[in-house]
Amino acid sequence: GQDPRISRIASSIRVIPDFPKPGIVFQDITTLLLDTKAFRDTIDLFVERYKDKNISVVAGVEARGFIFGPPIALAIGAKFVPMRKPNKLPGPVISEEYSLEYGTDIMEMHVGAVEAGERALVIDDLIATGGTLCAAIKLLERVGVHVVECACVIELPELKGRERLGDKPLFVIVNAA
Ligand code: PRP
Ligand code: ADE
Repeated sequence: GQDPRISRIASSIRVIPDFPKPGIVFQDITTLLLDTKAFRDTIDLFVERYKDKNISVVAGVEARGFIFGPPIALAIGAKFVPMRKPNKLPGPVISEEYSLEYGTDIMEMHVGAVEAGERALVIDDLIATGGTLCAAIKLLERVGVHVVECACVIELPELKGRERLGDKPLFVIVNAA
């Protein structure tokens, strides 16, 4: 059967209808962070999966990938690299434009944070359309990094973001059906 930790993690996520706008069912992970067992179990599930995979980089997507990424990076002995919204990083960056449900956004990464040939895990809280994770993968691959897998706490399967990732593996803990 399913790992018993998963149902507690799923129950700890608060669902808020019509946020930030009508029709969006918002998956709120701040309540997961208030449940110390659910938060610890979430990090443990990722660490158990990635600890022996020779990963040297955990890339976390702003903003909620900055919550889950660093404890995973510390536990598996990898560095943490923030993937940020535009004009936030002070050093030289590479940028990738990506499409959202409405319009476009830009993601940036410091050049020099990673080296060609490194093995990376990309972390975010949630995959919806997959545009955000695709941009993170592209930035890392442009500098010769191998993206081993993407991992999220929550997947919204109806939005088919997994298909947009092509054959890049995606691991999720909770499916929000
Ligand atoms: C949310 C979420 C993911 C992204 C997923 O971030 O945390 O990063 O959307 O959507 P996608 O799969 O359709 O690309 P959001 O854009 O709300 O930014 P924030 O975390 O900075 O608020
Ligand atoms: N990002 C995109 N869609 C989302 C949702 N439904 N809940 C939380 N974050 C999201």
